[in-house]
Amino acid sequence: MTPVCETAQITTGQSLLDAIGRTPLFRLSQMEQSLESVELYAKAEWFNPGGSVKDRPAARMICEAVSSGQLTHDRRILDATSGNTGIAYAMIGAALGYGVTLCVPANITQERKRILSAYGPEVIFTDPLEGSDGAIREARRRFAENSGRYFYPDQYNNDFNWRAHYDTPAAEIWEQTQGRVTHFVAGLGTSGTFVGAGRRLRELKPDITLVSVQPDAPFHGLEGLKHMETAMVPGIYEPSLADLDFGVATDDAYAMTRRLASEEGLLVGISSGAALAGALQAIQARAAAAGGPVVVVVFPDGGERYLSENFWNEPAP
Ligand SMILES: Cc1ncc(COP(=O)(O)O)c(C=O)c1O
Repeated sequence: MTPVCETAQITTGQSLLDAIGRTPLFRLSQMEQSLESVELYAKAEWFNPGGSVKDRPAARMICEAVSSGQLTHDRRILDATSGNTGIAYAMIGAALGYGVTLCVPANITQERKRILSAYGPEVIFTDPLEGSDGAIREARRRFAENSGRYFYPDQYNNDFNWRAHYDTPAAEIWEQTQGRVTHFVAGLGTSGTFVGAGRRLRELKPDITLVSVQPDAPFHGLEGLKHMETAMVPGIYEPSLADLDFGVATDDAYAMTRRLASEEGLLVGISSGAALAGALQAIQARAAAAGGPVVVVVFPDGGERYLSENFWNEPAP
């Protein structure tokens, strides 16, 4: 299996970075019961050491910058993030001895704020009404003001973001399903997960169905996901890769997230519920295809990061 930091020159030994990737693929047996001849799997990305899928691209972007000389110890890592990439940068920065400055929308959950602060980065909170786009503008402004002080990976436009997903989770999913995967489903934030893993899986299986999922409205509660029609579109996004693209309502994602905890024993984040809701739409929309589909859905992070959200208190769906 391709290591996360394949081309990095830094010596990591048996380090935190070596623990990134090779996440489990769980079968959603209870959910499958209401579906006819469907195999449904969750790629459990919260098993990464930083607790999310974003460990993969953050490690890759940092390792590549170290090996190319762009990141040296007199520079700080600077980027905009809705939380999980920031946690990954902060964790890796602490492990490798780099300072980290993060521009983050002020309305990320308390849990994420506390995890971030534990790793000790400088955090600049941006206007919640501007969402992740406000954080991007602030990171750009800071970099333009003092480019010599920072290494700015710019995850929305950095090819090593999607490359990380092309190189590792795609190969893992292929191996874990013995090449049987027929549908790959992922939410869109930077789009790195969908574009990277989707590109590789399409090479491995040209007739695979690639399904992207995004919020159904500009204002939404799906932390980590972007409503592409109204947001600043990431440079790495390739919309034409998707065979199907579904908008998911925040309430539907909440309901699915709660079901995953109570019916499957998987305490996951809201974007996982959204991705699963999208996957179920894709399963319903499929033509009377021959053979049962084997559907793999990326679950980007765990539910502990969202426990202060009110939707957990609502009656069971
Ligand atoms: C919770 C969560 N879900 C989904 C995503 C989307 O992943 P990507 O940026 O690879 O599109 C992110 C990205 O930050 C995230 O934090």
